[in-house]
Amino acid sequence: MLAVVKLGGSAITNKAKPYTVRRENIVKASKTISKLYSEGWEFVLIHGGGSFGHPTAAKYRLQEGGLEPEKLRGYAETRYWMTKLNTYVVKTLLVYGVPAVSIQTSAVAYNANGKMARFDYEIIREMLSRRLVPVLYGDAVLDTIRGFSILSGDTIASRVAIHLGAEILVYVMGSGGVYSRPPESPDATLLREISRKSFLTVGEASGIDVTGGLREKLEEAFAAAEKGIKVNIGGISFLEEMILGVEAPYTRVLP
Ligand code: IPE
Repeated sequence: MLAVVKLGGSAITNKAKPYTVRRENIVKASKTISKLYSEGWEFVLIHGGGSFGHPTAAKYRLQEGGLEPEKLRGYAETRYWMTKLNTYVVKTLLVYGVPAVSIQTSAVAYNANGKMARFDYEIIREMLSRRLVPVLYGDAVLDTIRGFSILSGDTIASRVAIHLGAEILVYVMGSGGVYSRPPESPDATLLREISRKSFLTVGEASGIDVTGGLREKLEEAFAAAEKGIKVNIGGISFLEEMILGVEAPYTRVLP
């Protein structure tokens, strides 16, 4: 059985401190994945950029495109920092006995005007058939229209889950799931379920934080759920429960 797990940048890096990992969370995820791998699960892992990817991409405004020398520098630097973070994640997985193999996202995928236009699913399939655990990441990629843009790990995760027929797609977030209001508000409660319908009808009115990253993540999550894939969003403490689909405080995404 295949589980596709996206480890969000907020879960594995300290977003307040550039280029800093949250070591204890990477260790926790590695232990869970190691345990379930040894019980027969297959995994494709994707991690986010957090405080390694976003500050560099923002500094050079990579999303806006352009091919001037500053952009080339920005692309190269973003790629450098993502490789650093990826090496840390892969190394930790190896320490805990997972045959994790880094896949440089920008060498197997590219965008067209900010949207994923190509992805090499075959290489992932071949790795899985050898019981390897591919580890991709949100990355600065080549863009056929803009020169460069960002391909988020959220998109990679749902597309891989759909194309490879995953049993389960899990989004790990620093916050622990999707809340009724922005998680820092005192009356925020964790939503145990979310569907496109509930999101559209009550989402904005009830104050669900649908800005930027979360909205895009949910769009990707709904797309996978609509293809019959189980999708869960939550914190690293309940990673095992989310993969196994057992009851725990996290958010289930319904089609
Ligand atoms: C972003 O990837 C990658 C870069 C900024 C280079 P994601 O969009 O998947 O990252 P997080 O999870 O939000 O940090």
